[in-house]
Amino acid sequence: MAKMWQGRFKKELDSKVNDFNSSISFDSRMFEEDIQGSIIHVKMLSNQGIISQSDSKVIAKELANIYDDIKSGKVEFDMGAEDIHMFIEQVLTERLGEVGKRLHTARSRNDQVALDLRMYLRKEIDTVVGLIKKLIASLVKKAEENLDTVMPGYTHLQRAQPITFAHHLMAYVEMFKRDMVRLFNCFDLMNECPLGSGALATTTYPIDREFTAEYLGFKGPMQNSLDGVSDRDYCIELASAIATCMMHMSRLSEEVVLWSSWEFKFVELDDAYSTGSSIMPQKKNPDICELIRGKTGRCVGNLTTLLTMMKGLSLAYNKDMQEDKEAIFDSVDTVKLCLTTLTPMIDTMTVLKDNMANAGKRGFINATDCADYLVKKGLAFRDAYKITGALVAICIDKGLTLDNLPLEEYKKLSDKFEGDIYDAISLQQCVQERKVTGGPAPEAVAKHIEKIKNTVLKEYEED
Ligand code: ARG
Repeated sequence: MAKMWQGRFKKELDSKVNDFNSSISFDSRMFEEDIQGSIIHVKMLSNQGIISQSDSKVIAKELANIYDDIKSGKVEFDMGAEDIHMFIEQVLTERLGEVGKRLHTARSRNDQVALDLRMYLRKEIDTVVGLIKKLIASLVKKAEENLDTVMPGYTHLQRAQPITFAHHLMAYVEMFKRDMVRLFNCFDLMNECPLGSGALATTTYPIDREFTAEYLGFKGPMQNSLDGVSDRDYCIELASAIATCMMHMSRLSEEVVLWSSWEFKFVELDDAYSTGSSIMPQKKNPDICELIRGKTGRCVGNLTTLLTMMKGLSLAYNKDMQEDKEAIFDSVDTVKLCLTTLTPMIDTMTVLKDNMANAGKRGFINATDCADYLVKKGLAFRDAYKITGALVAICIDKGLTLDNLPLEEYKKLSDKFEGDIYDAISLQQCVQERKVTGGPAPEAVAKHIEKIKNTVLKEYEED
């Protein structure tokens, strides 16, 4: 296909250079946005008297036909074309002849790529937000079923204090909630329209940038044309929000890997969401979690790619920026894929409550509560801490736990200990007592769940 810019060239472009230069293999996914942008552009051109009403109508109608034809497969992308913008204009001109050539009046491809990518990513943000909400819904459901499921909470992966499985899951709900906010913020910042920036310095035609911005769903036009065509902050911010969300999914995945091991056996993954080994017949592997953990790396890489791509670029557009799309599309595709796989895996996972409770019985996770018992009877915390430490040492020596250490042993270290110590350090009690906002007590977690249901998930139902 002859290049639309061939006027000043004496030779055809080398075919390998053409392939090297071309972006259609990855930017064709923006065909819908490109066509929408062009339709509003020609409407504006005729409103402003820059092209005739009849030309505008013919062009808009044919662009809509091209959209239908691409959708139905009647028109296939030409991989020899330079990019999606050139391709659509070329098809239009082939179909309309002279009239089609008027479409590109008062705009540039730099305009188009900046516009199309913002519009495309706005749509993708909506999709990702919807998928995060689904994941939150499934975590909340599991949490509701496990308000009383006591398990050890960890620091340094050492058993630390008793919590519930609901409390643990709701920590992830908060992370994913913040991811949604980051995506909303990102949407808001990218929601300004670059169209009309031209190649870099707008145009001498009396275009109406407010009109195109409004009809393409933006808050308004971008205020500087150099910035309009050379800003890719929105790709970087989105890649960053996605990398953070992936990091959260990766942490959850890591925990599911641990929890589904024989060492923990806190959960059992559904057969449909785990895989076997080619040689070891007994194996049931959490591949999904491992892949999510692995794919987080490429999303972090995409963010680095974008930051590095931009950091040395003089204003305004430089072809380096064509590299933005593969990186950000990969991040968007990856996060969508991971969210759609993780949610049903969580939904179908069996929680082995007894194993969690048993793990809680070892590791002295009620030691803090034992010290707090003495504090409530008048001791200073540091003294209580020391006595409890000594009790733990005795238990370790005798192969006992604080729950079955005889009362005489307790009394040897402090006469404040009475028979009620055993209730005070029962794991249920330890959890129940942590009922302040944010704590693991079933009543505190239930309140948190209600809050999420009335905010994040309520919006989700209305979607
Ligand atoms: N395919 C290009 C990109 O993705 C479109 C803009 C090209 N503009 C230019 N002046 N070569 O960035």
